[in-house]
Amino acid sequence: MPDSNNNLSYDAVTYLSRQFGFTQPDRLGAVASLLGMRPLAGNRCRVLEIGGASGGNLIPLAERYPQSEFLGIDLSARQTADGRKAIEQLGLKNIRLEVGDIMEMGPELGEFDYIIAHGVYSWVPPAVAERLLEVCAARLALQGIAYVSYNAYPGWRFHAVARDLLLYGSRNVADPAEKLRQGRKALEFVARYAGGIDSGYRAWLGREEARVRGWEPSQILHDDMETNNHPCYFHEFVDRSRRAGLKYVTDAQLFAVSIDHLPAEVAGQYRALAPGAVEVEQYWDFLQNVGFRRSMLCRAEVELSPAPLAGRALELHVSSPAKPKGAVDLQFASSATFASANRTMTLTDLMTKAMFLTLGEAWPGTVQLGELIRTARGRVLAAVQPLTDEQWAANFLHGLPSGEIELWTHPPEFTTSISQRPVVSPCARLQAQSSTVVAGRRHETVRLDELTRQVAMRLDGSRDREALRNEFANLDTALNHLARNALLIA
Ligand SMILES: C[S@@+](CC[C@H](N)C(=O)[O-])C[C@H]1O[C@@H](n2cnc3c(N)ncnc32)[C@H](O)[C@@H]1O
Repeated sequence: MPDSNNNLSYDAVTYLSRQFGFTQPDRLGAVASLLGMRPLAGNRCRVLEIGGASGGNLIPLAERYPQSEFLGIDLSARQTADGRKAIEQLGLKNIRLEVGDIMEMGPELGEFDYIIAHGVYSWVPPAVAERLLEVCAARLALQGIAYVSYNAYPGWRFHAVARDLLLYGSRNVADPAEKLRQGRKALEFVARYAGGIDSGYRAWLGREEARVRGWEPSQILHDDMETNNHPCYFHEFVDRSRRAGLKYVTDAQLFAVSIDHLPAEVAGQYRALAPGAVEVEQYWDFLQNVGFRRSMLCRAEVELSPAPLAGRALELHVSSPAKPKGAVDLQFASSATFASANRTMTLTDLMTKAMFLTLGEAWPGTVQLGELIRTARGRVLAAVQPLTDEQWAANFLHGLPSGEIELWTHPPEFTTSISQRPVVSPCARLQAQSSTVVAGRRHETVRLDELTRQVAMRLDGSRDREALRNEFANLDTALNHLARNALLIA
């Protein structure tokens, strides 16, 4: 049942195809623009996705941007057929999904402003991975951006034992469901009883078992148990990209590396060990045990700024899910805690506190950075330093811990107010027919409970709230969930 890459075929076990927020043009474009590029906006660009399975990432984008063109190419005929069916049901004319092999992608495809390859590079034989980078170099427009994610070391050195156990435990079985069952049994057994003299070993295997515990069967079978799974170090990926004719831009997770937040003494030693930009990021991976990377690449001849351009930042839109925990003092520089689902940060600077307070109120919406600075200035009760907007923008970007904000070239379009006739996008309504996981307008995965799923399916604008309330006693709870998760378009 293996495909031409010698993997378990994606025709036999299809992948759960979803959207990934950080792959969308308006977010990639914002990060690139901060470093001096002039990328096209999401609403008027050409996007190629390589190995995008059944189009879960591209279809919601094609619906959002009718003036842009989308092409998805994947080796699996079955996944491609599934995606085409959804495109037909949605009546989208600006997207094509084709069956094709990375090894055969040539100039007939034309040029693209964005090329996305998420979760592909590490799961194909090395020759195909090399070709993937060459295709990016050859098919990118001059200001085009490629996004390539991959399994990275050192994190994958640790995951590899779990993978080895999953494979060893299921070595005598061919049927995918049984393979998964036996592999999991082996991993659970060893994670539970591992020990001997090294209790750290058991703790580590326990974390590995927990890592894959809630995963969908297709995700474990493909992500962890594929024949081809070739992680690499970040510096190796940068070298390979350079050889293919590409330049590393930065990580799609904005400010993934932030030395400035380390204690001064540690930051000093760090800088001495890592004189160049690649070394800085590589040491970060060693320090943080990074196991997955999302790299942005551009054509070799593009000039990049070594540091974020504050002037450009003022034009961009910002969002942050961080919300204050308790009251925030805007008169004194006392600490305030802001938390999101994944992290907590402590802020003392008055302007930064006022900016995050404003962003928290706007969430899931965005605020243009220039406007955010002006609003924050108005909110701070004490006198703040007389800096220009550009200087405040530089301070804000400089002071950010990794991953606290998202930047957008254009705000995603949705409404957070609940109208008389609320509407959910046709794409999300279609997804809700068969799944509790749908695409929000921020291009993130949104999970729906059964009530909200039922409500979402009906929100095509033909029913007013009165009619809906007759059908659903808890309508408001569902509508609020949809609004908070950027699912309402009217
Ligand atoms: C792990 S899945 C990732 C799917 C999707 N990008 C995601 O992250 O959800 C890898 C995808 O790459 C496709 N693929 C593997 N080898 C390929 C090749 N040589 N040419 C085109 N697509 C390929 C597979 O069919 C599969 O859909």
